[in-house]
Amino acid sequence: MNANSLIDFDVKHIWHPASQMKDYETFPPLLIKRAKGSYLYDENDRPILDIVSSWWCNLLGHCHEEISAALSAQSRKLEHVIFANFTHEEVIDYTRMLMEVVPNGLTHFNYADNGSSSVEMALKIAFQYQMQSGHQNKMRFACLENSYHGETIGALAVGSMDLYSRIYKPMLMETLRLKVPDVYYKGESDVEKCIIYAREFFQKYGESLCALIVEPLLQGAGGMKIYPPEFLKALSELCHEYGVLLIADEIATGFGRTGKFFACNHAMITPDIMCLSKAITGGYMPMSVVCTTDRVYDVFLADYKEGRAFMHSHTYAANPLGVACAKAVLTILKRDDILKKAHKTASWLQEEFSRRLGSLDNVGSTRHIGLINALDLYDDKSTLKPFLSDRRVGFEIYKEALKEGLLLRPIGDTLYFNPPLNISREELTCALEIAEHAIKHVCGA
Ligand SMILES: Cc1ncc(COP(=O)(O)O)c(C=O)c1O
Repeated sequence: MNANSLIDFDVKHIWHPASQMKDYETFPPLLIKRAKGSYLYDENDRPILDIVSSWWCNLLGHCHEEISAALSAQSRKLEHVIFANFTHEEVIDYTRMLMEVVPNGLTHFNYADNGSSSVEMALKIAFQYQMQSGHQNKMRFACLENSYHGETIGALAVGSMDLYSRIYKPMLMETLRLKVPDVYYKGESDVEKCIIYAREFFQKYGESLCALIVEPLLQGAGGMKIYPPEFLKALSELCHEYGVLLIADEIATGFGRTGKFFACNHAMITPDIMCLSKAITGGYMPMSVVCTTDRVYDVFLADYKEGRAFMHSHTYAANPLGVACAKAVLTILKRDDILKKAHKTASWLQEEFSRRLGSLDNVGSTRHIGLINALDLYDDKSTLKPFLSDRRVGFEIYKEALKEGLLLRPIGDTLYFNPPLNISREELTCALEIAEHAIKHVCGA
């Protein structure tokens, strides 16, 4: 089949994620033939700079020789084994390595196969923990405003984004929501205000709360919003005071994305439960892990007849191929000091990003954490008047940048970079140039 017939078939029969499929009739999907480092290549071998790391999972560049070799070797050794009552060396090695880098005190690891399934698992562990430790009153969940934790039913219920959940509301449990500080538009004083609000919130609901789930420091799908570590620390202390479990969803932030190994490290906290996925295998295989403390784990440990076990399973739990990739990723991160190198690139990028893009007529605030940089576009930045949603400014910029060889994928009218940690300055300079041009072209500045 030639490229056109392949795409025709795709548009007719394949339902793509989070897309209005009618858009595909006039703007068909790009056929990608191969990838290397920060670049994807289309059927004509045209390079496309992937500045969003393929939905944030491609941590060390595409088709990394060492990860590919690990995957290939593992595929000839052991591709899958039932994980109930069976185990394998790969997962034991990896768990030992992971335990060395996660926040101190996370000592038990339950494997699943994608971000949302790890969130479901975390919610169920939290609920069962409370029920089995005599807190039958603690049945409610809380999350942050503007949060995103995935799109399965439980994960949607603890998310705050109408776009994904509106129609399913009758299917979702009711969840309480806490305000999040916005220091970029409301100033530093918003942090203290939100902490006071959180204290009142816990006074009112703390006794009935099972768990609070948060994206630590960075609310990704909610528009790359960043809040300071002191807010996370305050939430952690409140959870502790009221016997509420803190679930840190580090699916998007884990493995160096925020400049430290985990976003929780910025606040020096250990959550009760932590979810990891996305970058864990560098984009090679779907995999996730839920990490918990002894305190949580021990509540499930008893004679079989007591019925306290966590009766939860996923067919692909700890799949050896995924674990082999995860092991290679962690080995490279540690051995090559990737975070330290990324830190230098991050300081440089932050300056360049604000200098080149922050000064444009339609750009509101720029913000950054680690190598992640984001900006919001406004019709009038002095009054923060948004563009009419019909204009689909973000989408138009996406199309314009793509023409010039950059994969940007904005979230609404928020543009961001979330590149592989080992991206070069030359590649980033190229991304900045194309982004600047695309913004000017679409916004008419
Ligand atoms: C913070 C967070 N939690 C959960 C998820 C869901 O992960 P998955 O898409 O693998 O189900 C995402 C995905 O973007 C995420 O960013």
